Amino acid sequence: MITQKSVQEILETVKVEDIIQDFVTLKRRGVNMIGLCPFHNEKTPSFTVSPAKNIYKCFGCGAAGNAVKFLMEHENLSFPEALRYIANKYNIKIEEKEVSPEVLAERQRMDSLFIITQFARDFFSEQLFETDRGKSVGLSYFKQRGFREDIIRKFGLGYAPAKGDALTVTAKQNSYNIDLLKEVGLTSQYNRDFFRDRVMFTIHNLSGKVIGFGGRILQKDVKAPKYINSPETEIYNKSKVLYGAYFAKTAIRKQDECIMVEGYTDVISLHQDGIENVVASSGTSLTVEQILLVKRYTPNIKILYDGDKAGIKAALRGLDLVLAQDMNVKVVLLPDGEDPDSYLQSVGSAAFKEYLENEAKDFILFKTDLLLDDAGNDPIKRSEVIKDVVKSIAKVPDPIKRSLYVRECAKIVGVEEQLLVNESNKLVGKELKKRTEQQAKRKASRQQSDPNFPNPSDEPFFPTEEVGPGAMPVSPLEQKTKTLSGDEFQERDLARILVLFAEEIFDKEDQITVSQYLLGNLEDIIDDFDNALYKKIVHLCMERMANGESLERSFFVNHSDQDIQKFTIDMMSSPYEYSENWEKKWELFLHSQKMPDKNFIQDSLSSLKRFRLRKLKKMLERNQLKIKELSEGNDFEQAMIYMKLHQKIKSIHDDLAKEMGSVVL
Ligand code: UTP
Ligand code: MN
Repeated sequence: MITQKSVQEILETVKVEDIIQDFVTLKRRGVNMIGLCPFHNEKTPSFTVSPAKNIYKCFGCGAAGNAVKFLMEHENLSFPEALRYIANKYNIKIEEKEVSPEVLAERQRMDSLFIITQFARDFFSEQLFETDRGKSVGLSYFKQRGFREDIIRKFGLGYAPAKGDALTVTAKQNSYNIDLLKEVGLTSQYNRDFFRDRVMFTIHNLSGKVIGFGGRILQKDVKAPKYINSPETEIYNKSKVLYGAYFAKTAIRKQDECIMVEGYTDVISLHQDGIENVVASSGTSLTVEQILLVKRYTPNIKILYDGDKAGIKAALRGLDLVLAQDMNVKVVLLPDGEDPDSYLQSVGSAAFKEYLENEAKDFILFKTDLLLDDAGNDPIKRSEVIKDVVKSIAKVPDPIKRSLYVRECAKIVGVEEQLLVNESNKLVGKELKKRTEQQAKRKASRQQSDPNFPNPSDEPFFPTEEVGPGAMPVSPLEQKTKTLSGDEFQERDLARILVLFAEEIFDKEDQITVSQYLLGNLEDIIDDFDNALYKKIVHLCMERMANGESLERSFFVNHSDQDIQKFTIDMMSSPYEYSENWEKKWELFLHSQKMPDKNFIQDSLSSLKRFRLRKLKKMLERNQLKIKELSEGNDFEQAMIYMKLHQKIKSIHDDLAKEMGSVVL
């Protein structure tokens, strides 16, 4: 275990820009460096690295943290792994705390299991590419299926020879421990190979280590199963693994969507065609752990299952799980008899993508339609269907979404809405109880985690956003006058930036000024200002800008309107004051606030964001009233439209709120 002293040394030595520049091209911009965010898709850079603060933040997607967090997120390293990466880079010698011999032995054993699986992977690959039989049977099979060689190599495809103990014998010859081979399920207790005469698919964990294999039979019409897979082992926990996740994770984050398929070959085929955000559940039904794994990257899942009955059933089974995790689920059914691989190959990637776009159905429609179809006119079956669907709906944590589903479902099946409401309310109560219990459990287990490895994401990298109006430092002048509400506080901040920095350059490349940036973004929300003075200032700025007149600070200082003049001078001459405590707690934040002249860009950005968030909240409130009104007037079709809008706004709102930290003003 790395000692606290070493951890400290590493954290003190590391320069965030050094680490990030291993992966992202950064350009200097003032005191900061900026580049294209590696965590989401963007054309103009909003990924900002602050060497002074030793942190990064993306103003597009909200990703933020220090060097360690970056490595953990970007490279999927664990905390100690990230520390080792840094130590290695700076030649820092890591001090390891004495670990018990048991722990050490265990760790070494795990490492050796990975070494064994890697050896097996290389063996299967060599068999595929270098042996006559491998080439004529295995490689030709893959090629005939349309897999390119680079993809075959990337995914670690291979061939397990027909001879009953080729792998085991070769391992022995190379002085590998056969017991370990047995432990990862590659050799039987009689020293026979587990996989024989099959083409091999390597299964990786999230950091790319080999944890298991799937082997596909080559002959047709034999009784043996089409695929056999490594058994559960210490390193291969099937319920926690999604095939292809290692290769898909970056794309999933970028596309903000995960495509879920069933088969190994589906993943590979789509990937080869440039659809990289795809993982497979490998034929089993989805588990919560697998869903949570996806959720680390995106809340949006598109389930793409085979168009046969079994595929449909599998899709349905997985569905409720995804809903319970408050994820957005769409289902795409492929034409009968096709799987993603075959369909892609038959229609080509453009048509395939279009199909996914057009055929993606929201789960409730999908499930209800499908089940009703099955039930026909049988009243008993129909009531079963209703129960089933309501059960799914009850899993949705968001009450608004839920009520929308109830309404729609009632319409489709043609029953009284109230009936479904009652039914679903009951189930929701149960669900809520279950969820809170789970949360409590998770929390308890988090608290038990090793204090030597604090979760860096717990640290306030950008405490700015966490400071509510109550905690905000108040100048003596303000204390004397009145306490500002949260909303007014935001408005004041915008007005402050405008009167002080309107003419400053906000973006050098595009040559836009702070006022252009702010006002451009405020245009549609200006009527939401509560405070008359601040509203006046914004209007004044807009007017002058429209007339091509300048917005120098002196214009406000010398303005005939006493209120505007006084406000400007106040803002110029009364910097915030801070209590000592506060200063200690939010050192970073103060650093920026103490030098407003240097930080107006960051201030503009965060100020605008706070304001947008508030606007979104208002939109949601208004929208909700509208929905209520429409539903009461039985205009469900219109209500649906507003519900959809609601979901859209809500997701924007939630993303922004998340980005801004825990306190939402
Ligand atoms: P499929 O039968 O759809 O196979 O099973 P596939 O992936 O499309 O393979 P091809 O195209 O016929 O070669 C989907 C997944 O279910 C698991 C495998 O993970 C497979 O990829 N499966 C299937 C098994 O584990 N065992 C089996 O016997 C069949
Ligand atoms: Mn297939």
